[in-house]
Amino acid sequence: MTTNHSTYTAVSQALAEQGLSLAQLDAYQENGFLVIEDFASAQQCSALMQRADDILTAFDPQEHRSVFSTDNQDRDAYFLESGDQIRCFFEADAFDEQGQLRQAKQHSINKIGHALHELDPVFAQFSQHPALARLAQDLGLQNPRLLQSMYIFKQPKIGGEVGLHQDATFLYTTPITVTGFWFALEDATVENGCLQALAGGHQLGLKQRYFRRPQGGTDFETLDPSPFPQAAALECLPVKAGTLVVLHGLLPHFSAANRSSRSRQAYALHCIDAAADYPSDNWLQRTHPIPGFVPVPLN
Ligand code: FE2
Repeated sequence: MTTNHSTYTAVSQALAEQGLSLAQLDAYQENGFLVIEDFASAQQCSALMQRADDILTAFDPQEHRSVFSTDNQDRDAYFLESGDQIRCFFEADAFDEQGQLRQAKQHSINKIGHALHELDPVFAQFSQHPALARLAQDLGLQNPRLLQSMYIFKQPKIGGEVGLHQDATFLYTTPITVTGFWFALEDATVENGCLQALAGGHQLGLKQRYFRRPQGGTDFETLDPSPFPQAAALECLPVKAGTLVVLHGLLPHFSAANRSSRSRQAYALHCIDAAADYPSDNWLQRTHPIPGFVPVPLN
């Protein structure tokens, strides 16, 4: 696959060549997140948005209507087997009392997951950005693997809240290595549900782990029952389209429901270190190896 360097920004090009500065590394270690503005160009953002729209256009909402009916087994299977698939998940508020979509399917989907970075050529090319490989290396991932990706729509009016969580709860490894790359494809504001983070909260340890029960289904295991500090300590991270937010796997983060009239589309990619142990009861299981970064020449 070729990489179109003409779409790179100066920021991402410099990052690919020189890596993170000491100040950026210090900020990441202190806060558990790092905001990198102008990582993706407007052209890259619109290419990903167009591709996501194409996927929704091809998606038949009747095909998986049972997903959000009372048939939980079916819903679970659709989700639990999506680790190496591209699947569309509805917003909880997408349907009316009769089970009919309240609005067009294009405005009813919560997210697409979880192997866009592997199966879709446009997302795969973006996810293989050499700056991300360099970032993963600088952040200490010895053998980074691109485990999971999500396209998040945060639809106008019905975009749901994402409760306070740590990504390591869902993508657990021993030791914990999951690192998130979250790209704002549209401006993320307080009104449309920007990320909120508990700065420094990655030093609190992991509170919960989500796992597959041996008898079927999933559950949460409590590792530390003490609550997170008060929600008032959350820091809002409004960012412009094209911004990359790097998230430590233990960072508590949250996003509020979007009740505004503007969507807040984002792409999130999660990497782990192949050197860490990946439990067989993590929710996300794959039938083939997890891809790594493929080295590409910078010029
Ligand atoms: Fe998250």
